[in-house]
Amino acid sequence: MLDWWRDAVVYQVYPRSFADASGDGVGDLQGVRGKLGYLSDLGVDAIWLSPFYTSPLADGGYDVADYRDVDPRFGTLADFDALVADAHALGIRVIVDIVPNHTSSAHPWFRDGLRERYIFRDEPNDWQSIFGGPAWTQVSDGQWYLHLFDPSQPDLNWDNPDVRAEFRDILRFWLDRGVDGFRIDVAHGMVKAAGLPSVGTASSVEMLDDADVPYFDQDGVHDIYREWRPILDSYPGGRMAVAEAWVASPERLARYIGPDELHQAFNFEFMMASYGAKSFRDVIDKSLAEARVVGAPTTWVLSNHDKPRHVTRHGSLARARAATLLMLALPGSAYLYNGEELGLPEVLDLPDELREDPAFLRTGESRDGCRVPLPWTRDLGWTNPWLPIPASWGELSVEAQEGDPGSTLEFYRAALRLRRGLSGDEVTWLDSPKDVLAMRRGITVVMNTGETPVPIDGQVLLASGPLGADGSLPPDTTVWLVTGE
Ligand code: GLC
Repeated sequence: MLDWWRDAVVYQVYPRSFADASGDGVGDLQGVRGKLGYLSDLGVDAIWLSPFYTSPLADGGYDVADYRDVDPRFGTLADFDALVADAHALGIRVIVDIVPNHTSSAHPWFRDGLRERYIFRDEPNDWQSIFGGPAWTQVSDGQWYLHLFDPSQPDLNWDNPDVRAEFRDILRFWLDRGVDGFRIDVAHGMVKAAGLPSVGTASSVEMLDDADVPYFDQDGVHDIYREWRPILDSYPGGRMAVAEAWVASPERLARYIGPDELHQAFNFEFMMASYGAKSFRDVIDKSLAEARVVGAPTTWVLSNHDKPRHVTRHGSLARARAATLLMLALPGSAYLYNGEELGLPEVLDLPDELREDPAFLRTGESRDGCRVPLPWTRDLGWTNPWLPIPASWGELSVEAQEGDPGSTLEFYRAALRLRRGLSGDEVTWLDSPKDVLAMRRGITVVMNTGETPVPIDGQVLLASGPLGADGSLPPDTTVWLVTGE
């Protein structure tokens, strides 16, 4: 199926934290390979691997030193090939992360002083780094280079034809190895406005900037995707690309999608929405409208490696499961983040000295709490994990949850199994009390975000938590129902 991605469930693997086969405390590709049976049982269609390339890991691998090799901590190219072969044998597709806005400062181009491939200037402008502080760092001869992220992540110069040629070749390298798609990191970056105009404010930048900013979402970025699409299309089997593009409006996002550009863009609105019937309904309506503009089904995300896990963000496991069951009923594809199927919360009390997120040093905000390794067994299943795993997570481990019908893991498995029976691009809202969402998409979905139980009518397919003794839908619970009509 060439457009397999349209309704796919894609499971994001953060390789450092998923599973460790070598026993060195850092997850690896053989670890992922060993868990493919688990992922197949979970019922995912594809995995997206966050970067596993050669890297100093200054930004968890989003600082790439060699785009065509595997970091020894994660394994070898042979391990990668074996992982792809085994995944494909199980019917699981493989998406890899491509990081084209910047390299690592350990990349040979930067090391060898190929300054024309980066953005060097005699004077900095006033741009700020997403990770805090100025976006410019001075080198010994007095020049400055641009880094929208960490100083160890110099921005590439996409006006340089060698940069463009290199990335076309990198895409082919991984396509030749059998990958089914790419997740494009900072897909709204790369091209900067000519002359690098100052923004006239010293305020720090955000990934999502409503203002017109000269470093994001420039028209020229679309030329790059128009160069890339024919490469993807020249391979058999439906190779795809999904953009991590934080742009100001659905109209701007729509420009990334289409037959001559990319297949999908993450819709982060659902992840950013606060918990509640109105807020979810607004964002669903907006997203579905956006999908109509784009002409492609939307994507849904509740957690990833950059944001606090949704158990914590929404305030409880019950709420997280309710939001998940709502998400999985919606048309389009769903991206899951490793560990959400175990109901893992954000780890809030990591000691500062163990935090590795480069943003932490510059802003005091850290993404480490969602990157803690996954517990596989009651004794956690890791030796000296790179971030400590709370001992209480033994009870959240796969071993503890497997076979327990009330567990979050079995809940995800059931939801993904039933989701295969859903189809149709439209959602019909049904009348419902305030704080309750009710919609139909073949099945009827009811979510209660209020404080009192609500009656429901129909045959229960799946509920995100226990129903009331009288069959009513308790607060913070979602149910899938088969109803008469
Ligand atoms: C993306 C990644 C994030 C990384 C940043 C810089 O937003 O998701 O983890 O820090 O790009 O590459």
